[in-house]
Amino acid sequence: MSAEEVLERIAAAVRDCTKCDLYRNTKNGVPGEGDPHAEVMFIGEGPGYHEDRQGRPFVGPAGAFLNELLASVGLDRSTVFITNVVKHRPPENRDPLPEEIAACGDYLTEQIAAIDPKVIVTLGRFSMARFFPGARIGAIHGQAKLIDGRIVVAMYHPAAALHQASLKQTVIDDFKRAIPAALTEATRLAAAGKLSAPKKQDDDDQSPPPPQQMTLF
Ligand code: URA
Repeated sequence: MSAEEVLERIAAAVRDCTKCDLYRNTKNGVPGEGDPHAEVMFIGEGPGYHEDRQGRPFVGPAGAFLNELLASVGLDRSTVFITNVVKHRPPENRDPLPEEIAACGDYLTEQIAAIDPKVIVTLGRFSMARFFPGARIGAIHGQAKLIDGRIVVAMYHPAAALHQASLKQTVIDDFKRAIPAALTEATRLAAAGKLSAPKKQDDDDQSPPPPQQMTLF
């Protein structure tokens, strides 16, 4: 199956999903959108009011700021893929619960596998926790690690900057520094054959597996 077909199958499953209770009282599931072959994938927290109405990620105020941030590093949202940790809106925009994140987890895993991005950008605490368990966003924002053959960059959620004016410049600066640096590093690592998710080792393959976690910047 092509990446397009896998993503469409996931999107259909998300729209009909009843794996947890979040779908109750929502208008639309929000699977995510963008280029099925994107080099960069952004993972937010969960749909808000506007996303629920439209069935599309990051289309409210946080989305407008994300579009500005993307433009600041020369990216258009049609060239990246944008999704969330949970695909239905939590009531009143409350934090997603661990069991809701777990119920939605396979969708994200399958989306990452289908798109095979070189760079994953986590937006906020909940997507960060999937890749940097136990980390604090205040400590690692703007930092990148090589995790399972992809560069993962931890960023503040764009909405945090809208709620806390003092964070706005930090988010802008993190974006402008870390996204181009991650893409440059991804190109370098790919040329050296050190990027892309590790494939299953053949039984007779004696070469050591690549390092699973490496701090880049
Ligand atoms: N916040 C998120 O985390 N995701 C969206 O899609 C919109 C706002």
